[in-house]
Amino acid sequence: MTSWEGRITERDIYGRLRLTCPPERIPAPGQYLLAWNPGETDSLLAVPVFLAELAAPEERAVWLAPATPCTGNPGEKLHLRGPLGNGFRLPPGVRRLAAFVPRRPPWRVLPLIQRVLREGGAVVLFSGADTAHLPLPAALEILPPAAFPETLRAWADYWVADLPLEDAADISSVLGSPTPPVPGAVLVDTPMPCGGLADCGVCALSINGKTILACKQGPVVEVEGGR
Ligand code: FES
Repeated sequence: MTSWEGRITERDIYGRLRLTCPPERIPAPGQYLLAWNPGETDSLLAVPVFLAELAAPEERAVWLAPATPCTGNPGEKLHLRGPLGNGFRLPPGVRRLAAFVPRRPPWRVLPLIQRVLREGGAVVLFSGADTAHLPLPAALEILPPAAFPETLRAWADYWVADLPLEDAADISSVLGSPTPPVPGAVLVDTPMPCGGLADCGVCALSINGKTILACKQGPVVEVEGGR
């Protein structure tokens, strides 16, 4: 895949970056762009960056979730590849979405949450982070992470989770069961320095009895449900 260039035009108080982006390069929710900032001398590796808001193609720009390490400042250009990887594929007819992001702001699943709410569905976010000051949709209900397994059983028809690699590998503990009652998908948070170009193996993950490369077969990994 050819690389392209985007310019950072803004950084908001939450650390999100606004990046110029042609419509055909806008990642779907859960997909990533592999970003490298030639001006960042202390970070030589490319960093995966994710959509933090549903994007309107006519704006030719996207809001990106804060990335670690930080990918740049307003005025700087990023070298980019992508969009890459598998994004979220919501099955038709999902009306009640449970979103589990226990320890940090839910930026990386927010575009999906926005989509479900716009289509008339309901979403509950399970978060232990301080979300009170974040610009989240008013219709979004927020519950503590401990309520997630019971809500899956009693209410949700689909779930998504945003988890670091070690928690994603142990997804049955997170779900409270080896087979969740309803299907869902986990967005794996892991370094993906080569984005599948060199098969470096840094993003290798064992999940559901299979070993995958998150950069190619993820970073969204679907999990079957058993209800
Ligand atoms: S990032 Fe190199 S194989 Fe996935």
